[in-house]
Amino acid sequence: MTETLLVAPLDQFAEGSGLRVEVAGHRIAMFRIGDTVYAVGDRCSHAEASLAEGEVFDTEVECPRHGSTFDLVTGEPQSLPATRPVPVYLTEVVDGDVYLTIEATVDEVAS
Ligand code: FES
Repeated sequence: MTETLLVAPLDQFAEGSGLRVEVAGHRIAMFRIGDTVYAVGDRCSHAEASLAEGEVFDTEVECPRHGSTFDLVTGEPQSLPATRPVPVYLTEVVDGDVYLTIEATVDEVAS
């Protein structure tokens, strides 16, 4: 089951800095790069840190706690200490508004 939600107008996303949103029980970090918005899980896969507070380089975000970088397209870590990916979410910009698609996990569908 998927759910597509309107998040905000594109012009409310500052270029190159993260915005943390909580949607349907998911904590998500969103980043605007040009006219594209990327969305990944906000919790670093290494320990408790908010990726929305990280710095963006090209299409990677650097965890503010220990410095692992994550690809914003795939969620894969690009450097240690993180070794596991963070989830990625589909986004779309339609008529200047940013939409986010959430896929429910098996647990959420069952509950
Ligand atoms: S908490 Fe992110 S790299 Fe350690």
